[in-house]
Parts: sequence; C-alpha cells; structure tokens
Amino acid sequence: MRAHLFCAVASAARALLLSIPSAALADEAKDALIVETILRLDDFDLGGSAKAQAAVGRYLETNWAGERYLDLIRRFALKTETPGVLRLALEKADAPIGADAAVLLVELGAGELLVKALGGEDATTAARAAKAISHAGDPALAAELEKVVGDGSRPAAVRSAALSAIYGTDPDKQAKLLAKVKAGQLADDLKQTASDLLMLSRDPKVREEAQSLFAASQGAYPAVSELVKRSGDAEHGKVLFATKTCSVCHQVGGVGINFGPGLSEIGDKLNKQALYQAIMEPSAAISMGFEGWELTLDDGTPLLGIVAETEEALTLTMIGGAQRKVLKSAVTSKKKLAESLMFPGLHRVMTPDELVDLVEYLSSLKKAQPGS
Ligand code: HEC
Repeated sequence: MRAHLFCAVASAARALLLSIPSAALADEAKDALIVETILRLDDFDLGGSAKAQAAVGRYLETNWAGERYLDLIRRFALKTETPGVLRLALEKADAPIGADAAVLLVELGAGELLVKALGGEDATTAARAAKAISHAGDPALAAELEKVVGDGSRPAAVRSAALSAIYGTDPDKQAKLLAKVKAGQLADDLKQTASDLLMLSRDPKVREEAQSLFAASQGAYPAVSELVKRSGDAEHGKVLFATKTCSVCHQVGGVGINFGPGLSEIGDKLNKQALYQAIMEPSAAISMGFEGWELTLDDGTPLLGIVAETEEALTLTMIGGAQRKVLKSAVTSKKKLAESLMFPGLHRVMTPDELVDLVEYLSSLKKAQPGS
C-alpha cells in the first residue's frame, strides 16, 4: 500500500516537474514547489534534469537561510554552495540554523574554512568561527580552539570566545577548566570569562567550586538589613552590571541578553531591599514565566532553560539566549527546578561595596519622566 502510494506520488511529482503550467504560478512559487517535490523523491537525480537544476539554483540564490536552504545542499551534497553555508555558520552562529550550517560544512568536507575564519584578522568573525566550531562536533577543529586559547598574540576577545566555545556547555569539560584555574594555568585576561562560564554551569558542583574560587571576599557577607543602609556609586554599578555576569541574562536599555526579565525600569518595581533580595536570594521569589526546567531528550541530551510550550513542541531558551525547539515526543523527562535559573551566589564575585554600587545603579533605572 505504501509503496503503491509512493509510486503514485513520485510519478505525479515527475509529471509536475516537467509540466507545470507556466502561467499558473509565480516563478518563485514554482521553484519552491519543485524544491519541495524533489526533496521528497528518494532517488531523484538532480544532474539528470536541467530544469530542476535551474530551479534549485534560483531557489538557493533567493532563499539564503530559508527553510529548505540547508536541506537542499545536504541532500545533493552541493559543494559549490559552501560559501553560503559558511556565511550562515558564521552570521547565525547563535541560532540553531547556524549550528546546523556548521555541521553541514564539515559534512561537505569544508570544515577547514572555519579554521581559516578562526585564524583571520577580523576579531568578530574569528569569535563567531569559534562558536561555529563548537557546533560542528569535529575533534580536529575543536583542537584548533585550544591553540587559540593558548596563543597570547591573538586578541583577548577571540581567545575568550574560543574558551567559551570549548567550556561553555559541558560540565565534564568545565571541571577541567576549574582545575586549570586552580593550578594557575589560565591567562589573567581570560579569568572573567572563565568565571562567567563556571558560575553559570549546569552542574551545581561546578558552580559551588567556582563560587569559592572566584569569590571577591572571603567570610560572611553582610545581611540585606545592613546593606540597605549604605549608598553607592551608580556609575561604577553600571560597569559592574556589564562585567559581573548580569548582562549575560538581563537587558538594560537594549544592551545585554534578554534571558531573564528586562531591567530597564527595575527601579520603579523593586526598592533597594527587594533588589538585594532578588540578587542574594533569587530562589525565594521566582518571577512568573521565568521558572527553570530540566529536560532530557530521548538521545540522552540534558537541557536546562526556560520553556515555552505549544501543542506539539517546546521551545527552550537556554542561558546565553540560544533557543532550541524540541518535539514533545522527543522529551523523556521534564522537571521544574526548585531553584531560580539565576543561580544563588552570583553576588559573591563582587565585594559588598561593589554590590552596593550595583544596587545603587539598578535602583536608578526608572521610566523616563515626561518632559525630562
Ligand atoms: C543565568 C542567568 C542570570 C544571571 C547571570 C543573572 N540573572 Fe537575574 N534573573 C534571572 C532570571 C531567570 C530571573 C527571573 C527568575 C527569578 O526571579 O529568580 C532573574 C531575576 C532578576 C531580578 C528580579 C527581576 C524582577 O523583575 O523581579 C533582578 C533584580 C535580577 N535578576 C538582577 C540580576 C543581577 C544584578 C545580576 C548580576 C549580578 C543577575 N541578575 C544575573 C537570570 C539571571
């Protein structure tokens, strides 16, 4: 029955390819239809049809990063398209489609283009290449990242991107980074990145070790009731906001990543006492819609993030802002975290004086008054 149906579909599709009534559809729609059709045919020989080849060529040209762009290139191993795939892997390195492009680049035998981009003069491109390599899953490429981290002649931004690409997600690797930091083997200008990575690890053991390793002051932290009595330097607080992990998850005035709630007007919502509590005891009151979830996929992959749900799929937003859509049928376990995704203890990378400056800054963030 299925075979019969498939034959019928296949022959109908072939007939369609050869005889689409010319005026019936706009050219672009025709190309899209041809593309959809040949992707469904298991044995389609693209080389054997000039008409299909032309349609594919036009489709790829007008649909860079479009829905079928990577599918087509992968299906027919179109090596001539590597420049477009490379561009996608770099420009969309933060999105799932960019990650898929990086994987495809390796499948096409062009992984060394990422290494070339990593070694290039342009720091932004090199940093994106580091991220793309982390998606590509090729150990030979990953080894290039290690070289960059250790090469003092490269800009700090590039070495820091390479460090994040190696240690950003895997707690086992993060444990190795912890050991490196402890042994004094990490360059000073990479310590802030290492601190961000490790303080936000998926693994609570790594986070706890990182907290004691990167703590700005030892011993007990002053209580909220003590801190609220002090006043600080809001300008300095602004700098701390950008450098002490906060902007990895929060936006103020369009700067930073929107993972947690936006804080542009947080001074209107929370007084100093509530701000200290939100930072020092984040799990005491978790904002609605920002609860953390731990998922396991059927291939064993563990994921952590904020979940938005539709009937068939879940969209998981992960720390760092990357989103991943997964079919509900592929989720084998789903557990709500008791703790906030704003992990407790982040304030420990600041001295109490610095925290006072940071809260001074946050409490100054208010809706612009009309006329001011
Ligand atoms: C790993 C991501 C992450 C980091 C890093 C992070 N936060 Fe958060 N933050 C969240 C999430 C998620 C929430 C909402 C859940 C909750 O209320 O705990 C939140 C909530 C808050 C709130 C309460 C917001 C509201 O509308 O009630 C404040 C204030 C805040 N964070 C400040 C900070 C500051 C300051 C820093 C830096 C020291 C920081 N956060 C670092 C993720 C993060």
